[in-house]
Amino acid sequence: MTPPFRESPTLLLPPTPAGIARAAELLRAGELVAFPTETVYGLGADATSGEAVARIYAAKERPRFNPLIAHYPDRDSAARDGRFDDAAERLARAFWPGPLTLVVPKSAGCAISDLAGAGLDSVALRVPSHPLARALLAETGRPVAAPSANRSGRVSPTCAAHVLADLDGRIAAVLDGGTTDVGVESTIVSCVGARPALLRPGGVTRETIAAVLGFAIDEPRSADTAAPVAPGQLASHYAPRARVRLNANAIAPGEAALLFGAPLPGTEQAAAHVNLSESGDLGQAAARLFASLRALDRPGIACIAVAPVPGVGLGEAINDRLKRAAAPRPQGTPEQ
Ligand code: TXA
Ligand code: MG
Repeated sequence: MTPPFRESPTLLLPPTPAGIARAAELLRAGELVAFPTETVYGLGADATSGEAVARIYAAKERPRFNPLIAHYPDRDSAARDGRFDDAAERLARAFWPGPLTLVVPKSAGCAISDLAGAGLDSVALRVPSHPLARALLAETGRPVAAPSANRSGRVSPTCAAHVLADLDGRIAAVLDGGTTDVGVESTIVSCVGARPALLRPGGVTRETIAAVLGFAIDEPRSADTAAPVAPGQLASHYAPRARVRLNANAIAPGEAALLFGAPLPGTEQAAAHVNLSESGDLGQAAARLFASLRALDRPGIACIAVAPVPGVGLGEAINDRLKRAAAPRPQGTPEQ
Protein backbone atom coordinates (compact mmCIF):
# COMPACT_ATOMS: atom_id res chain seq x y z
CA MET A 1 0.00 0.00 0.00
CA THR A 2 1.31 3.47 -0.83
CA PRO A 3 1.58 5.64 2.26
CA PRO A 4 -0.40 8.87 1.97
CA PHE A 5 2.72 10.93 2.67
CA ARG A 6 6.04 11.15 0.89
CA GLU A 7 8.67 8.84 2.28
CA SER A 8 12.00 10.29 1.34
CA PRO A 9 14.63 11.95 3.48
CA THR A 10 13.60 15.29 4.94
CA LEU A 11 16.00 18.13 4.13
CA LEU A 12 17.32 20.15 7.08
CA LEU A 13 17.65 23.64 5.61
CA PRO A 14 19.94 26.24 7.18
CA PRO A 15 18.63 29.68 8.25
CA THR A 16 20.36 31.39 5.31
CA PRO A 17 19.04 33.19 2.21
CA ALA A 18 19.68 29.97 0.23
CA GLY A 19 17.82 27.87 2.82
CA ILE A 20 14.88 30.28 2.80
CA ALA A 21 14.81 30.34 -1.02
CA ARG A 22 14.74 26.54 -1.20
CA ALA A 23 11.99 26.34 1.42
CA ALA A 24 9.87 28.91 -0.47
CA GLU A 25 10.39 27.04 -3.72
CA LEU A 26 9.24 23.77 -2.13
CA LEU A 27 6.15 25.45 -0.66
CA ARG A 28 5.24 26.96 -4.03
CA ALA A 29 5.60 23.48 -5.55
CA GLY A 30 2.99 22.13 -3.12
CA GLU A 31 5.44 20.40 -0.75
CA LEU A 32 5.39 20.47 3.06
CA VAL A 33 8.02 22.55 4.85
CA ALA A 34 8.27 22.95 8.62
CA PHE A 35 9.49 26.35 9.76
CA PRO A 36 10.06 28.15 13.05
CA THR A 37 7.72 30.79 14.38
CA GLU A 38 8.18 32.60 17.69
CA THR A 39 5.63 30.21 19.28
CA VAL A 40 6.26 26.67 17.94
CA TYR A 41 7.38 25.16 14.62
CA GLY A 42 4.63 25.14 12.01
CA LEU A 43 4.06 22.53 9.30
CA GLY A 44 3.60 24.75 6.27
CA ALA A 45 1.77 24.17 3.00
CA ASP A 46 0.50 26.51 0.29
CA ALA A 47 -2.87 27.55 1.78
CA THR A 48 -4.29 28.28 -1.66
CA SER A 49 -3.84 24.66 -2.77
CA GLY A 50 -6.25 22.03 -1.46
CA GLU A 51 -3.86 19.33 -2.59
CA ALA A 52 -0.93 20.79 -0.65
CA VAL A 53 -3.11 21.28 2.44
CA ALA A 54 -4.33 17.67 2.25
CA ARG A 55 -0.70 16.58 2.65
CA ILE A 56 -0.58 18.26 6.07
CA TYR A 57 -3.36 16.02 7.36
CA ALA A 58 -1.69 12.93 5.88
CA ALA A 59 1.76 13.72 7.30
CA LYS A 60 0.38 14.48 10.76
CA GLU A 61 -2.08 11.59 10.62
CA ARG A 62 -4.63 14.08 11.80
CA PRO A 63 -7.87 12.13 11.76
CA ARG A 64 -10.14 15.04 11.06
CA PHE A 65 -10.14 18.15 8.92
CA ASN A 66 -9.89 21.08 11.31
CA PRO A 67 -9.51 24.61 10.03
CA LEU A 68 -5.89 25.75 9.85
CA ILE A 69 -4.27 29.10 10.53
CA ALA A 70 -3.02 30.98 7.45
CA HIS A 71 0.30 32.78 7.93
CA TYR A 72 1.39 36.05 6.27
CA PRO A 73 4.50 38.23 6.26
CA ASP A 74 2.58 41.41 7.15
CA ARG A 75 -0.80 42.87 7.99
CA ASP A 76 -1.57 44.10 4.49
CA SER A 77 -1.27 40.68 2.90
CA ALA A 78 -3.37 39.15 5.71
CA ALA A 79 -6.02 41.83 5.24
CA ARG A 80 -6.59 40.69 1.64
CA ASP A 81 -8.11 37.41 2.86
CA GLY A 82 -10.28 38.67 5.74
CA ARG A 83 -12.58 41.48 6.81
CA PHE A 84 -11.43 43.34 9.91
CA ASP A 85 -13.85 45.11 12.22
CA ASP A 86 -12.65 47.83 14.56
CA ALA A 87 -11.54 45.37 17.28
CA ALA A 88 -9.63 43.19 14.79
CA GLU A 89 -7.97 46.29 13.37
CA ARG A 90 -6.83 47.44 16.80
CA LEU A 91 -5.59 44.00 17.82
CA ALA A 92 -3.67 43.58 14.55
CA ARG A 93 -2.06 46.98 14.99
CA ALA A 94 -1.10 46.24 18.60
CA PHE A 95 0.13 42.64 18.31
CA TRP A 96 1.24 41.94 14.73
CA PRO A 97 3.75 40.73 14.01
CA GLY A 98 3.45 38.49 17.06
CA PRO A 99 1.77 35.48 18.69
CA LEU A 100 -1.85 36.46 18.03
CA THR A 101 -4.22 34.76 15.56
CA LEU A 102 -7.36 36.61 14.47
CA VAL A 103 -10.45 34.76 13.26
CA VAL A 104 -12.38 37.11 10.97
CA PRO A 105 -14.98 36.77 8.21
CA LYS A 106 -13.53 35.76 4.84
CA SER A 107 -13.04 38.53 2.30
CA ALA A 108 -14.82 38.29 -1.06
CA GLY A 109 -11.58 37.44 -2.84
CA CYS A 110 -10.17 35.19 -0.09
CA ALA A 111 -7.41 33.02 -1.61
CA ILE A 112 -7.45 30.32 1.11
CA SER A 113 -8.58 26.91 -0.11
CA ASP A 114 -11.78 25.45 1.32
CA LEU A 115 -9.82 22.57 2.79
CA ALA A 116 -7.53 24.91 4.79
CA GLY A 117 -10.59 26.81 6.00
CA ALA A 118 -12.63 23.61 6.56
CA GLY A 119 -15.42 25.17 4.53
CA LEU A 120 -16.14 27.88 7.15
CA ASP A 121 -16.99 31.44 6.19
CA SER A 122 -14.36 32.72 8.62
CA VAL A 123 -10.57 32.47 8.42
CA ALA A 124 -7.79 32.36 11.02
CA LEU A 125 -4.99 34.81 10.14
CA ARG A 126 -1.59 35.16 11.75
CA VAL A 127 1.47 37.36 11.15
CA PRO A 128 4.32 35.75 13.09
CA SER A 129 7.23 37.85 14.35
CA HIS A 130 10.00 35.29 13.84
CA PRO A 131 12.39 36.80 11.26
CA LEU A 132 12.87 33.47 9.43
CA ALA A 133 9.11 32.91 9.23
CA ARG A 134 8.57 36.40 7.88
CA ALA A 135 11.34 36.04 5.29
CA LEU A 136 9.97 32.66 4.20
CA LEU A 137 6.39 33.96 3.97
CA ALA A 138 7.48 37.03 2.00
CA GLU A 139 9.46 34.90 -0.42
CA THR A 140 6.70 32.31 -0.83
CA GLY A 141 4.28 35.06 -1.83
CA ARG A 142 1.14 33.19 -0.81
CA PRO A 143 -0.62 32.45 2.47
CA VAL A 144 0.90 29.43 4.21
CA ALA A 145 -1.36 27.12 6.22
CA ALA A 146 0.49 25.77 9.24
CA PRO A 147 -0.59 23.75 12.25
CA SER A 148 2.07 22.78 14.76
CA ALA A 149 4.66 20.48 13.13
CA ASN A 150 4.07 17.43 15.33
CA ARG A 151 2.47 14.11 14.60
CA SER A 152 -1.12 13.98 15.76
CA GLY A 153 -1.27 13.21 19.46
CA ARG A 154 2.20 14.52 20.23
CA VAL A 155 3.44 17.62 21.96
CA SER A 156 4.11 20.71 19.78
CA PRO A 157 7.72 21.09 18.57
CA THR A 158 9.93 23.94 19.77
CA CYS A 159 13.08 22.97 17.82
CA ALA A 160 13.95 21.29 14.50
CA ALA A 161 14.93 18.04 16.25
CA HIS A 162 11.39 17.71 17.67
CA VAL A 163 9.97 18.13 14.17
CA LEU A 164 12.25 15.44 12.77
CA ALA A 165 11.46 13.09 15.65
CA ASP A 166 7.81 13.14 14.52
CA LEU A 167 7.89 13.81 10.78
CA ASP A 168 11.26 12.76 9.29
CA GLY A 169 10.66 11.16 5.91
CA ARG A 170 7.10 12.51 5.69
CA ILE A 171 7.80 16.12 4.79
CA ALA A 172 10.10 17.75 2.24
CA ALA A 173 12.11 19.96 4.58
CA VAL A 174 12.58 21.70 7.92
CA LEU A 175 13.97 25.21 8.05
CA ASP A 176 16.18 25.18 11.13
CA GLY A 177 15.80 28.28 13.29
CA GLY A 178 16.95 26.87 16.61
CA THR A 179 14.69 26.96 19.66
CA THR A 180 11.50 29.03 19.62
CA ASP A 181 11.14 31.92 22.09
CA VAL A 182 7.54 31.88 23.30
CA GLY A 183 7.05 28.11 23.46
CA VAL A 184 3.23 27.99 23.53
CA GLU A 185 1.00 28.54 20.50
CA SER A 186 -0.57 31.84 19.51
CA THR A 187 -3.58 33.29 21.29
CA ILE A 188 -6.66 32.94 19.08
CA VAL A 189 -9.24 35.74 19.17
CA SER A 190 -12.44 35.55 17.17
CA CYS A 191 -13.68 38.84 15.71
CA VAL A 192 -16.72 37.47 13.91
CA GLY A 193 -19.39 38.17 16.54
CA ALA A 194 -20.60 41.37 18.14
CA ARG A 195 -17.82 41.15 20.72
CA PRO A 196 -14.33 39.66 20.34
CA ALA A 197 -13.96 36.26 22.03
CA LEU A 198 -10.94 34.33 23.28
CA LEU A 199 -10.85 30.93 21.52
CA ARG A 200 -7.46 29.79 22.81
CA PRO A 201 -5.14 31.33 25.41
CA GLY A 202 -1.59 31.62 24.10
CA GLY A 203 1.47 33.80 23.66
CA VAL A 204 -0.37 37.12 24.02
CA THR A 205 -1.98 37.36 27.44
CA ARG A 206 -5.66 38.04 28.11
CA GLU A 207 -4.58 40.99 30.23
CA THR A 208 -2.68 42.76 27.41
CA ILE A 209 -5.54 42.13 24.98
CA ALA A 210 -8.00 43.70 27.43
CA ALA A 211 -5.67 46.68 27.83
CA VAL A 212 -5.71 47.30 24.06
CA LEU A 213 -9.46 46.78 23.67
CA GLY A 214 -10.40 48.72 26.78
CA PHE A 215 -12.64 45.88 27.99
CA ALA A 216 -12.25 42.30 29.21
CA ILE A 217 -12.16 39.51 26.65
CA ASP A 218 -14.06 36.30 27.41
CA GLU A 219 -14.59 32.85 25.97
CA PRO A 220 -17.40 32.73 23.38
CA ARG A 221 -20.84 32.77 24.97
CA SER A 222 -23.20 30.01 23.88
CA ALA A 223 -25.35 32.55 22.00
CA ASP A 224 -22.33 33.35 19.81
CA THR A 225 -21.46 29.79 19.01
CA ALA A 226 -22.82 29.71 15.61
CA ALA A 227 -19.09 30.50 15.64
CA PRO A 228 -16.85 27.59 14.68
CA VAL A 229 -15.32 25.15 17.08
CA ALA A 230 -12.29 26.50 18.85
CA PRO A 231 -9.16 24.40 19.26
CA GLY A 232 -9.76 24.36 23.00
CA GLN A 233 -12.87 22.25 22.48
CA LEU A 234 -10.75 19.14 22.20
CA ALA A 235 -10.18 18.05 25.76
CA SER A 236 -7.19 15.81 25.13
CA HIS A 237 -4.37 17.51 23.28
CA TYR A 238 -0.63 18.10 23.60
CA ALA A 239 -0.48 14.66 25.09
CA PRO A 240 2.68 12.86 26.16
CA ARG A 241 2.50 9.07 26.41
CA ALA A 242 2.92 9.10 30.18
CA ARG A 243 0.01 9.97 32.43
CA VAL A 244 0.11 13.57 33.65
CA ARG A 245 -0.85 14.43 37.24
CA LEU A 246 -1.53 18.12 37.85
CA ASN A 247 -1.16 20.37 40.90
CA ALA A 248 1.10 17.92 42.67
CA ASN A 249 2.27 19.00 46.10
CA ALA A 250 4.69 16.08 46.45
CA ILE A 251 6.40 13.62 44.11
CA ALA A 252 5.78 9.90 44.61
CA PRO A 253 8.72 7.50 44.17
CA GLY A 254 9.21 6.62 40.51
CA GLU A 255 7.22 9.55 39.15
CA ALA A 256 8.87 12.15 36.94
CA ALA A 257 8.62 15.71 38.25
CA LEU A 258 7.83 18.82 36.25
CA LEU A 259 8.61 21.61 38.68
CA PHE A 260 7.96 25.33 38.85
CA GLY A 261 9.84 27.37 41.44
CA ALA A 262 11.04 25.53 44.55
CA PRO A 263 11.41 21.71 44.25
CA LEU A 264 8.53 19.70 45.72
CA PRO A 265 8.98 17.19 48.57
CA GLY A 266 10.02 13.84 47.11
CA THR A 267 11.86 15.38 44.12
CA GLU A 268 15.03 13.60 45.23
CA GLN A 269 13.37 10.21 44.58
CA ALA A 270 11.84 11.20 41.25
CA ALA A 271 12.70 9.08 38.21
CA ALA A 272 13.64 12.34 36.49
CA HIS A 273 12.96 16.02 37.07
CA VAL A 274 12.93 19.25 35.10
CA ASN A 275 12.24 22.72 36.42
CA LEU A 276 10.22 24.98 34.11
CA SER A 277 11.60 28.00 35.93
CA GLU A 278 13.48 27.95 39.21
CA SER A 279 12.86 31.67 39.65
CA GLY A 280 9.12 31.27 38.92
CA ASP A 281 9.25 33.20 35.62
CA LEU A 282 6.18 32.36 33.50
CA GLY A 283 7.82 33.41 30.21
CA GLN A 284 10.70 31.04 30.84
CA ALA A 285 8.26 28.30 31.86
CA ALA A 286 6.21 28.69 28.65
CA ALA A 287 9.36 28.56 26.53
CA ARG A 288 10.45 25.33 28.22
CA LEU A 289 7.08 23.62 28.59
CA PHE A 290 6.88 21.39 25.51
CA ALA A 291 10.57 20.42 25.46
CA SER A 292 10.28 19.48 29.15
CA LEU A 293 7.23 17.29 28.55
CA ARG A 294 9.10 15.56 25.71
CA ALA A 295 12.18 15.10 27.89
CA LEU A 296 10.21 13.51 30.73
CA ASP A 297 8.04 11.37 28.47
CA ARG A 298 10.31 8.38 28.09
CA PRO A 299 10.11 4.63 28.46
CA GLY A 300 9.84 3.49 32.05
CA ILE A 301 8.11 6.65 33.22
CA ALA A 302 4.42 6.03 33.80
CA CYS A 303 3.47 9.35 35.37
CA ILE A 304 4.63 12.96 35.18
CA ALA A 305 3.69 14.92 38.31
CA VAL A 306 3.37 18.65 37.67
CA ALA A 307 3.77 21.39 40.26
CA PRO A 308 1.08 24.11 40.39
CA VAL A 309 1.67 27.02 37.99
CA PRO A 310 -0.14 30.33 38.63
CA GLY A 311 -2.93 30.95 36.11
CA VAL A 312 -2.20 34.62 35.39
CA GLY A 313 -0.49 36.10 32.32
CA LEU A 314 1.25 33.41 30.28
CA GLY A 315 0.33 31.00 33.08
CA GLU A 316 -3.15 30.79 31.56
CA ALA A 317 -1.80 29.25 28.32
CA ILE A 318 0.58 27.00 30.28
CA ASN A 319 -2.25 25.67 32.44
CA ASP A 320 -4.48 25.22 29.39
CA ARG A 321 -1.85 23.02 27.68
CA LEU A 322 -1.13 21.10 30.90
CA LYS A 323 -4.83 20.45 31.44
CA ARG A 324 -5.11 19.00 27.93
CA ALA A 325 -1.96 16.94 28.44
CA ALA A 326 -3.58 15.47 31.55
CA ALA A 327 -7.04 14.86 30.08
CA PRO A 328 -8.23 11.29 29.50
CA ARG A 329 -7.56 10.19 25.94
CA PRO A 330 -10.36 8.27 24.33
CA GLN A 331 -9.14 6.19 21.39
CA GLY A 332 -9.16 8.20 18.18
CA THR A 333 -9.55 11.64 19.79
CA PRO A 334 -8.72 14.20 17.13
CA GLU A 335 -5.54 16.12 17.68
CA GLN A 336 -4.12 19.38 16.43
O1 TXA B 1 1.24 29.41 17.30
C1 TXA B 1 0.46 28.90 16.51
O2 TXA B 1 -0.72 29.32 16.36
C2 TXA B 1 0.94 27.71 15.69
C3 TXA B 1 2.06 28.23 14.77
C4 TXA B 1 2.60 27.19 13.84
O3 TXA B 1 1.61 29.36 14.05
N1 TXA B 1 -0.11 27.10 14.93
C5 TXA B 1 -1.09 26.38 15.52
O4 TXA B 1 -2.00 25.81 14.62
O5 TXA B 1 -1.17 26.22 16.70
P1 TXA B 1 -3.03 24.65 15.04
O6 TXA B 1 -3.57 24.09 13.76
O7 TXA B 1 -2.39 23.69 15.98
O8 TXA B 1 -4.19 25.40 15.73
C6 TXA B 1 -5.05 26.19 14.95
C7 TXA B 1 -6.41 26.19 15.53
C8 TXA B 1 -7.27 25.02 15.01
O9 TXA B 1 -7.34 24.00 15.94
C9 TXA B 1 -8.64 25.62 14.83
O10 TXA B 1 -9.56 25.16 15.78
C10 TXA B 1 -8.43 27.11 14.99
O11 TXA B 1 -7.08 27.36 15.03
N2 TXA B 1 -9.05 27.76 13.84
C11 TXA B 1 -8.58 27.84 12.58
N3 TXA B 1 -9.47 28.46 11.78
C12 TXA B 1 -10.51 28.79 12.57
C13 TXA B 1 -11.75 29.44 12.34
N4 TXA B 1 -12.10 29.88 11.15
N5 TXA B 1 -12.55 29.59 13.38
C14 TXA B 1 -12.21 29.15 14.63
N6 TXA B 1 -11.06 28.52 14.91
C15 TXA B 1 -10.23 28.34 13.89
MG1 MG C 1 -1.10 21.87 17.34
